[in-house]
This record gives sequence, C-alpha cells and structure tokens, in this order.
Amino acid sequence: MLFHSLLLIFQITFVLSFSSDGYAPIKVQCPGGQLTRSSTTGLNQDEQSYINSRYQVAKQNLATFLQNVNLTNFDVGSFLSKANPTIGLAFSGGGYRAQLTGAGEYSALDSRTHVVNGKGLGGILQSSNYISGLSGGAWLVGSLVSNNLVSIDDLINQNSLWQTEHSILSPGGKFLKDIGAWFKIGDQVHGKQDAGYDVSITDIWGRALSYQLLANTQNDGAGFRLSDVITQPNFQNHYSPFPILVADGRAPGTTVINLNSTVFSLTPYEIGSESPSLQSFVQTKYLGTKLDNGYPVNSSSSCVNSFDNAGFIMGTSSSLFNNVILSLASSGLPSFITNLINNIVVNPFEKLNVDVAKYNPNPFYKSVNPDTSIANSKTLYLVDGGEDGQNVPLVPLLHRKLSTIFAFDNSNDNLQWPDGSSLIKTYERQFSPQGKGLAFPYVPDQYTFRNLNLTSRPTFFGCDAKNLTTLTDNIYDVPLIIYLANRPFTYWSNTSTFKLEYELNERNSMISNGFAVASRLNGTVDTDWSTCVGCAIIRREQEKLGIEQSDQCKQCFKTYCWDGSLYKGGAIGDNFDNYGLTFGADSYNQKSTPGFYNTGANLKKRDHEP
Ligand SMILES: *[C@@H]1O[C@H](CO)[C@@H](O)[C@H](O)[C@H]1NC(C)=O
Ligand SMILES: *[C@@H]1O[C@H](CO)[C@@H](O)[C@H](O)[C@H]1NC(C)=O
Ligand SMILES: *[C@@H]1O[C@H](CO)[C@@H](O)[C@H](O)[C@H]1NC(C)=O
Ligand SMILES: *[C@@H]1O[C@H](CO)[C@@H](O)[C@H](O)[C@H]1NC(C)=O
Ligand SMILES: *[C@@H]1O[C@H](CO)[C@@H](O)[C@H](O)[C@H]1NC(C)=O
Ligand SMILES: *[C@@H]1O[C@H](CO)[C@@H](O)[C@H](O)[C@H]1NC(C)=O
Ligand SMILES: *[C@@H]1O[C@H](CO)[C@@H](O)[C@H](O)[C@H]1NC(C)=O
Repeated sequence: MLFHSLLLIFQITFVLSFSSDGYAPIKVQCPGGQLTRSSTTGLNQDEQSYINSRYQVAKQNLATFLQNVNLTNFDVGSFLSKANPTIGLAFSGGGYRAQLTGAGEYSALDSRTHVVNGKGLGGILQSSNYISGLSGGAWLVGSLVSNNLVSIDDLINQNSLWQTEHSILSPGGKFLKDIGAWFKIGDQVHGKQDAGYDVSITDIWGRALSYQLLANTQNDGAGFRLSDVITQPNFQNHYSPFPILVADGRAPGTTVINLNSTVFSLTPYEIGSESPSLQSFVQTKYLGTKLDNGYPVNSSSSCVNSFDNAGFIMGTSSSLFNNVILSLASSGLPSFITNLINNIVVNPFEKLNVDVAKYNPNPFYKSVNPDTSIANSKTLYLVDGGEDGQNVPLVPLLHRKLSTIFAFDNSNDNLQWPDGSSLIKTYERQFSPQGKGLAFPYVPDQYTFRNLNLTSRPTFFGCDAKNLTTLTDNIYDVPLIIYLANRPFTYWSNTSTFKLEYELNERNSMISNGFAVASRLNGTVDTDWSTCVGCAIIRREQEKLGIEQSDQCKQCFKTYCWDGSLYKGGAIGDNFDNYGLTFGADSYNQKSTPGFYNTGANLKKRDHEP
C-alpha cells in the first residue's frame, strides 16, 4: 500500500515535469564552419596539440622509469636525446571482470600506487600517450578520466565510486532508494525524448551505469559530458594519457564481424572512424546537431550540446548489456520504468536491435562517403565495441603509430579466460579492405596461445621489426605488443561477464589479482620483469636508429617474445604455470587471499539520497 501511494506520488510529479538534470541536449550557437572532418588528413588538431604537450611530460617520466629499471649498457639520457618512444595502454571488454582486473593492471602501472615499491611497473601510466578502453574497459577508462584520472588507491579510500556491492541494476542501493533512482533515470531519459531526440535502451543503461562510474559528479553524472573530460585538472596539466573509448558501427539488421566493422573512436574531442567505410569524425561537443555534410542544416543557432553524456558514451561502448535492461522490464520493476522500456522497444526493429545505441541525428549524414550505408542513414547505430570480436581496443592505437602497446586482455574466450582470440581478429583485419593502412604483428592460433603458455605469462609480439616486411613497408610504425592475459594469481578472476554485483572485498580481490597479473605477482615471479618491459619500450626506436640490443635485453626477449613457433602437441589443459593460485591442487577450493586492496577499514557503504 505504502509502495503504491509512493508510486502514485512519483507518477504525478513524473507526468508534470521532466527535470532532466542536464541529461537532455540543449540548443547553442554554432561555432561556424564544418563540424566534421575527414580522417585522411591525420589526427584531430586538438588531440595533436594535447599530445605535443603531453609527450614532454610523458618523456620525462619515461626517463625516470628507464633509470629505475637498471638497464645495463644503456644510457637513458643519450638515448632519449635521439629517440621518442611512445606508449599506449589498451583495456579489453568483459564487464566488471574486465573493469576490476583492468583497475589492478592500471594500478600496477601507476607511480602513485602505494604497494608498488619498485616491484610493479609504476610510472608507465605517467609515461603513456594513450589509454583506450572498450565495454568493461570503457567503464574503467571512462570512469577514471571523468574523475581526474584518480588513482585506484584514492578511489578505494574515497568510497563513493564503484560501490559494486549494489548491482548496476540497483542504482539507489536499496529498495526504496532504487525506486527514487529509477524514477530520476526515467525523468532524465524522458527529458531527452521531450527535447526531440530518439532514445534507446542504451540511454537507460548508461544512466544506471553512471551511478557506479560517475557517482562523484552532480546527479550521478546526468549532466557530465565526454567533452567535459578536458576540464579535469589532470587533463589540463597533461598528466593524463589521452583517452579513447571504442564502439562499432552497425547498419540496421546486419551483423558485424572483424573484417567489415567500422571501428569508432569516442574521445573528448571527436567521435568517428578511420575505417574506410567512414573516414570521418565529428566534434564530440556538437553531437546531436543536425548536419548535412558536416554543416548545420538550419541556422547558426541550431547547434546542440550535451548529447555526449559520458554515461551514454560508456553505455554505447557496452551496449551488449542492453539486454540486461530489457530483461528487467518483465521482472516486476515499477511500472513507470517498465512503460518507458516498452515504449522504447515498441516496434519489431527495436526488438531485433536491442543492443544498439541510437545517435539521431546522424552526424555523418551525407558526409564524405555518400556511398556507404552510414552516410545515407538518418540515424547512426553504434554497438558494443567488442561485437566484432576485437575485444582489446587496439585499432585506434594502431592508427597512432606507437612504439609499444600494452594489450590487457580480460576477455571471456574459454571458461571466462582469454585465449588470444581478440589479437587474432585484429591481426586478420589488416588483410581486409577495412584494415587498409593498418599493420599488426604476427600472432599464433588460439591453441598455441593456450598450450605455449602465452596467456599464462606476459608475451611480446612483433619483437623484430625486420620480420614484418611482408606486412608493411613502414615496419617501424608497427608497435611491439605487450600482451597480458587475465589469470588467477591471488583470486579466481574468471567471473562471469554478466555478474553485475561484487561485494567490496570481492571487488578488491579482483583488483589485487589484476595488480598481480601486471606486476608478475609483485615482482616475485620474475625480478627482471620491469627491466624487460623497459627493453620492450625502447625496442622500436633502437631498431629505427640501428642500435644493437644489450645482452640483458636479448635475454629478456628470449623469455618474453613469442618466437614464431606453433603448438601441435596434445592439450596441456589449464596452462597456468607454477606460480600463483593454481599452485597445488587444493588451491582450487581457495575462495580469496588477502590482496593489496583488502583494507577492511574502508568498507563503509555509500549512502544515496533519492
Ligand atoms: C635497481 O638497482 C637498485 C640499486 O642496486 C635497486 O635498489 C633496485 O631494486 C633495482 N631495480 C630493479 C627494478 O631491479
Ligand atoms: C559483414 O559481413 C557479414 C558476413 O559476411 C555480413 O553478414 C554483414 O552483412 C556484413 N556487414 C556489413 C555492415 O557490411
Ligand atoms: C529545421 O528546419 C525545419 C524546417 O524549417 C524544421 O522543421 C526543423 O524543426 C528545424 N530543425 C532544427 C534542429 O531547428
Ligand atoms: C574458472 O576457471 C576454472 C579453471 O579454468 C574453471 O574450472 C572454472 O569453471 C572457471 N569458472 C567460470 C565461471 O567459468
Ligand atoms: C610487494 O613488494 C614490495 C617490495 O618488495 C614489498 O614491500 C610489499 O610488501 C609487497 N607487497 C605484497 C602485498 O606482497
Ligand atoms: C616472422 O614472419 C613469418 C612470415 O614471414 C611469420 O610466419 C612468423 O610468425 C614471424 N615470426 C614472428 C616471431 O613473428
Ligand atoms: C607451459 O606450462 C606448463 C606448466 O603449466 C609446463 O609444463 C610447460 O612446459 C610450459 N610450456 C612451455 C612451452 O613453456
């Protein structure tokens, strides 16, 4: 009864006003000129100027890192006076599993992390040019950069972000507060609709996600835009690597595969794709503006801001989860949210395409490539960045010609463990029309990945640029890939992609295990690990300059480079080697071990006001 009268009160307010809390797009004056650009001319100018300033900071930090790792027969100063090694970090999809494992990996690269003590890779984050994320990896990257590139130590101590003991589907944290939160979400999404914009389930999904990922911003991120990331102090002072979130384009009613997907980059400055099927970008800030070949259609006052809600963008990159929202509609939720969901999926098209995020108006309408289905469509349809099987967001980084990319693979390929599938898809893409201009090092098949232990220890691909001549003429533009697959060192981190709720100690154990993956169990598995990473980072520039590799680095490469061999023998089963959790049979029963982030004192719960 109380429940029903509450609902009634909500319902009445709900009908009277749609207070969108800044979620609905607004009309603004146009900046003048074309709001799209062709990607054939290179990088976005704002991004280029960010990177120019960023690299000066990154290079200094890299000098410190290289000093710290004790490279022998190597003079850091004289090398860096001639060479410009560049680093990218790529975090895969995989729901919370990927977000939390990725958070531990990120913390292992962060010089601010208290547990590093010289045994992790602290300082790599501070030395990197780019950080990309897709789906669960986009939750990680999007949440961090929207919160001033917070360190994981601080994030855990602050106890407001990532209160994962509440399901993503429980935005208020408990029953009555949930109703209030869903009511607000309904209002915000209705507000966008009311302002004249098509909405999709991604709008609801993105808002629910934001209660976890953007909880530190006003109204849980209802008014926080991807383009607002540039206002964060650690962006302004170039402390942060440049963030790129990834989604795929999908024409209605089609499926995407790695060979023909249009890979979209979503950055604080622009959204679009270098893929031959588009080769065009639009300014993120003006997303939602009705454009014809990039020019505002009506008048100079008809431009739009605030379509680029950061939660909506993270929801787009993870739109596979729209199905989870849809399943809510039949599970006894308050009627206003069920009605909203049912209103959105009213026609058969929507039912068949639940996993899309709708961008209407399509900013690329009648743009450069009038032959493509994208340029002819009034709506741009984007889906989860992992739907083309390239679950590690590498493609945008490949276009940026870095020396080294850390590929953090937390995919579910086999028993929720990765088996290299994502890298294989990216490797194959270079031979298709959509992969024109891209080059990616040789990688073996999944069977080899698993049975040569390439997923149970870090593996370097593309160690020798001279072996890449059959792939490209520009061999030094192909990055060396440092591949790190999820595996259980201190915790069974192969949790389901669709697990939307983690107790805080579970969350912290996942993060700790991620730290162990990237740090080789806090440096205990291999005390030379950070030195070997140093060898990998300097490799391309050494090759370019014709500098001979030191014996120390040659030894590292013997340990960590894939040597080109393929495995043909019998399966070795779970190829976890003798380190970590799987050591000893009874560890299979082990539930959790104390990790870096199990600081019991911090388990206070966040209180949400509806
Ligand atoms: C580098 O050498 C110093 C001094 O010997 C030592 O304290 C430090 O642990 C070494 N670092 C690595 C990564 O081996
Ligand atoms: C991509 O290829 C698949 C398989 O050939 C096909 O079914 C699909 O329609 C293609 N999609 C696009 C957007 O071309
Ligand atoms: C643009 O103009 C058309 C026709 O004059 C009108 O129907 C439409 O609402 C206008 N759109 C915007 C975004 O102002
Ligand atoms: C996690 O990995 C172990 C070992 O490979 C496997 O036995 C278990 O079924 C996996 N769990 C899930 C949820 O897939
Ligand atoms: C990690 O290694 C450092 C340096 O050896 C050590 O001080 C720290 O206690 C270790 N942390 C854990 C959790 O083992
Ligand atoms: C070297 O190149 C050949 C093709 O020319 C390829 O088959 C092999 O896998 C490459 N080796 C490595 C280690 O990448
Ligand atoms: C892979 O690891 C297993 C132990 O899990 C070991 O028996 C095997 O020799 C390793 N294979 C290679 C090629 O190192």
